[in-house]
Amino acid sequence: MHCVARRAFSTSKFWQNVGKNDAKQSIKTSAATSDKSSSSRGSNLLYSAAILTIGVLAGTSWASFNICKDPPEFIFPHTSTLPLDKTLPPIYGDYQKVLDDLKAYLKSDQISVSKDELQNHSDSFFSTDHPKDDERPYAVLYPESTVQVSLIMKAAHKHHVPIVPYTGGTSLEGHYIPTRQGICIDLSRMNKVIALHKEDLDIVVQPAVGWEDLAEYLAPEGLIFGPDPGPGACIGGMCGTSCSGTNAARYGTMRENVISLTVVMADGSIVKTKRRPKKSSAGYNLTNLFIGSEGTLGIVTEATLKLNILPKFENVAVVSFPTLDDAAKAVAKVVQSGLQFNAMELLDAEMMKFVNGSGSVTNKYKELPTLMFKLGGNSTNVVKEITNDIKAICYECNCGKSNFRFASSDEEKEELWTARKVALWSTLDAGKLLHGPDTQIWTTDVAVPISKLVYSLEHARKVIDDAKLTASIVSHAGDGNYHTFIVYPKEDREKVQKVVEQMVHKALELDGTVTGEHGIGIGKRDFLLEELGDTPIDLMRKIKFALDPLLLLNPDKVFRIDPEDKHN
Ligand SMILES: Cc1cc2nc3c(=O)[nH]c(=O)nc-3n(C[C@H](O)[C@H](O)[C@H](O)COP(=O)(O)OP(=O)(O)OC[C@H]3O[C@@H](n4cnc5c(N)ncnc54)[C@H](O)[C@@H]3O)c2cc1C
Ligand SMILES: *[C@@H]1O[C@H](CO)[C@@H](O)[C@H](O)[C@H]1NC(C)=O
Ligand SMILES: *[C@@H]1O[C@H](CO)[C@@H](O)[C@H](O)[C@H]1NC(C)=O
Ligand SMILES: *[C@@H]1O[C@H](CO)[C@@H](O)[C@H](O)[C@H]1NC(C)=O
Ligand SMILES: *[C@@H]1O[C@H](CO)[C@@H](O)[C@H](O)[C@H]1NC(C)=O
Repeated sequence: MHCVARRAFSTSKFWQNVGKNDAKQSIKTSAATSDKSSSSRGSNLLYSAAILTIGVLAGTSWASFNICKDPPEFIFPHTSTLPLDKTLPPIYGDYQKVLDDLKAYLKSDQISVSKDELQNHSDSFFSTDHPKDDERPYAVLYPESTVQVSLIMKAAHKHHVPIVPYTGGTSLEGHYIPTRQGICIDLSRMNKVIALHKEDLDIVVQPAVGWEDLAEYLAPEGLIFGPDPGPGACIGGMCGTSCSGTNAARYGTMRENVISLTVVMADGSIVKTKRRPKKSSAGYNLTNLFIGSEGTLGIVTEATLKLNILPKFENVAVVSFPTLDDAAKAVAKVVQSGLQFNAMELLDAEMMKFVNGSGSVTNKYKELPTLMFKLGGNSTNVVKEITNDIKAICYECNCGKSNFRFASSDEEKEELWTARKVALWSTLDAGKLLHGPDTQIWTTDVAVPISKLVYSLEHARKVIDDAKLTASIVSHAGDGNYHTFIVYPKEDREKVQKVVEQMVHKALELDGTVTGEHGIGIGKRDFLLEELGDTPIDLMRKIKFALDPLLLLNPDKVFRIDPEDKHN
């Protein structure tokens, strides 16, 4: 009795009963009559069928079945991975039953079926992918505690209803499109700071705390939380996409900045992944499992985050270069020199033009490829030294003395960084002028090893220009990560798709990734397959099916779970 299966099953009285009833013979017979059962299908449907069969058998005692020694493979697949063609399409139940169950626990204002809300919880004007007409949730729920989220999941689990979690709604890859309709859980009422441990440099927050509010809350304490994605994004969704932003080169991404999470699982069970120490060898790192899982494995209801000390002095420098090539070369040199900068953002000439045109800055910047630096330190001398070193590199790369300047005031610093943060929207505004109000936007997000950045950017600019498309480029250059924002009229979608494919293939050729920080969502699943190959995705699928066998949590995101899925 040493097999793994025995241990896994022994927690359940039901399975112990099955073990006692030696039903092996009958199971074999029943398996043989079902054409699908003999393979190692991991499908939820098959699980249910198998459990039903065994349930019937367990009630009788007519055969012999030792579940431990020889667990039948159709119930307990022997494989470490789960290929798509070994699954069956999921089958979902009636959402109304979930709402009926929940009426006992939720106030009426926590349940919405208003058309506006169903619409704005499944789409945004800046997303690369949009839902089809029937891809709307049936209801939006507003839980106020971890326990309520758990009650919702228990009801959804009981009735087999899919659930999509939602916080800021700023993700860009159709992350919260309810491909199976179901119910959206909007966590916006869980927006409190629970505890600040200043002396430990950590903070415990609820999932709808926004990073901007958090920055405002922490600044007077001299503290900063690193990740800074799109305006409006919140901790829950930031864990979901493993986001980063302009600060990542200094403070890292979400992955480096979350200590522990409280997560509600698909069946409603509540898991806290770790306590608060920065360091721990205590078993699997479950925290990391949920970061970047895009709401497909669990719902984050609380997070303990790492904090950093705000630099005492900080300068913002703006440097323009004659060519994109020069700017990108400066980036590589700065990184390779090991200089400590707090941010290094690259905006191409087109982007500077759109920023200028948006009126969000006071028109002082040349419409040339531009680097924006945040240079910080604990003393003015430290800042001066770093600045001089960076200046020298920029001069070497042809920036020209008059093209290296500092933000002259705190307001200008703020204005510049805001202009950078809303680059996507400035590009979209430019697109509207060109193509009308119905303009579309496609955001790309590749990242490459830093030595390949120059080449990769040049290639991107070339394929965009060759296709005569309008696009800006912005780059979290310190991380070799850049976005092209392509604006286009609806009828050009195929053309844009081709250009995006060229960029992505080039990035992979350079040993890069298809997404540095935005995630996969629904739109990049095929790119992910290209990046990693089948086996790693099959392993992800195995984890998904193990933790969420009914496929309730944000189905169809990151990778396919349904062999009949036609989305592309
Ligand atoms: C103008 C603009 C600029 C941007 N700049 C950046 C940038 O610099 N860097 C960057 O990384 N991103 C950037 N983004 C993208 C976006 O801000 C990030 O992806 C962000 O992490 C999304 O957070 P959110 O709260 O809006 O999540 P949502 O869009 O609400 O959700 C994102 C995903 O997480 C899931 N999710 C939501 N809540 C939870 C939860 N509680 N538990 C588990 N899963 C959950 C959702 O189901 C979904 O799959 C930008 C977006 C815009 C519009
Ligand atoms: C969605 O629309 C409703 C009703 O118009 C509004 O109150 C709410 O703030 C909107 N929510 C989002 C996330 O845009
Ligand atoms: C576990 O993963 C989280 C999230 O990626 C990370 O921040 C943390 O450092 C890891 N913890 C340990 C103890 O390795
Ligand atoms: C910025 O745009 C305005 C018009 O929107 C233009 O007059 C001005 O020359 C531009 N600035 C630069 C530096 O190109
Ligand atoms: C500033 O000083 C603190 C404490 O001495 C240190 O932890 C931090 O890394 C320093 N910051 C910079 C940017 O050098």
